[in-house]
Amino acid sequence: MLNRRFMAVSALVAASLGAAAQAPTPLKEAYKGDFLIGAAINTPQITGQDSRGDAIIEAQFDTISPENALKWERIHPKPDTYDFTLADQYVAFGEKHHMFIVGHCLVWHNQVPDWVFRDDKGNFVDRATLLKRMHDHISTIVGRYKGRIQSWDVVNEALNEDGTLRQSPWLKIIGEDYIAKAFQYAHEADPQAQLTYNDYSLENEPKRNGALALIAKLKAQGVPVTSVGLQGHDSLTWPSVEDQDATISDFAKLGVKVVISELDVDVLPSVTHQQTAEVSLKVQQEPKLNPYANGLPQSVQQELAQRYADLFRVYLKHRDVVTRVTFWGVTDGDSWRNDWPVKGRTSYPLLFDRSGQPKPAFQAAIRVAADAKTK
Ligand code: XIL
Repeated sequence: MLNRRFMAVSALVAASLGAAAQAPTPLKEAYKGDFLIGAAINTPQITGQDSRGDAIIEAQFDTISPENALKWERIHPKPDTYDFTLADQYVAFGEKHHMFIVGHCLVWHNQVPDWVFRDDKGNFVDRATLLKRMHDHISTIVGRYKGRIQSWDVVNEALNEDGTLRQSPWLKIIGEDYIAKAFQYAHEADPQAQLTYNDYSLENEPKRNGALALIAKLKAQGVPVTSVGLQGHDSLTWPSVEDQDATISDFAKLGVKVVISELDVDVLPSVTHQQTAEVSLKVQQEPKLNPYANGLPQSVQQELAQRYADLFRVYLKHRDVVTRVTFWGVTDGDSWRNDWPVKGRTSYPLLFDRSGQPKPAFQAAIRVAADAKTK
């Protein structure tokens, strides 16, 4: 252990001494032995059309998530049509680089075609029909990538902000047990796969309590939930370090692992009174909502670096239960935050800038890992 630490520290010292040719320590090396570090990757990255992005992914990350490639509307656009082209390339990319491959996501209320819930006349189908469709979808996709996709986001965003179950078509048509069924079907299709309940804003107490009750209930019923995904669509001030810390501890007590599944930190003005990541939200663009269109001031750059350091210190503190930290995108230019919830803003939420260079926030994240290893 000491030896390993010594070697890791020497490597970092060597890197920071900055022999010109020496590349900085990659994130995945800095956090080796703590948790995996990942990124959600997009179509150009999956298909090799973004060579600059691919080079960053290969160098920095040991796990990938598909930003959109495996969502229902992409992979199963019509009742009898599955399109695996992009998903196959995504999995092949991960295998080529020996990465831990995440599947996202099986059951969600967004990016799912309307036909899933309706009959020929446009009415909602009955419970048995929707359960069958859900089963076909899950068994086909999880079955196809059995043993190759190591972790699935089985149910995404089933909760309201007050912790009650969201009135999605899944809930309305099937009833509360749609969640348990989805996990059972996924487990049947690949008994080895890690299975995650994934959601945003679980750091807020009412929603967190709802999620804790949900997971406790599923575990009591023997439903194979292995982890909770805290999406981590954060801001400079939300969640507080204390809330992040308490949230991870609370889920750990239930005996599930915690993953930070979609991390990004927004520096732009907030347009909602409550922190959300509801993708259907749309807010009109106004110049005052896009203050850094010509670049990020140094002061905000430093604030972002500090914020990332604070968050990574919390994740590290819980390295026994946090198994993975995945960024939702590679560079700032790739981020969904440029178009959500306001279209056409210039956002700076990630660790690599628009030209693919590491930002001060990158160095801050590396420093947190190095400091922990010298202690
Ligand atoms: C986002 C993608 O990043 C966008 O490209 C897409 O247009 C909408 O979805 N929570 C999730 C992710 O679980 O799937 C969402 O991804 C972001 C919020």
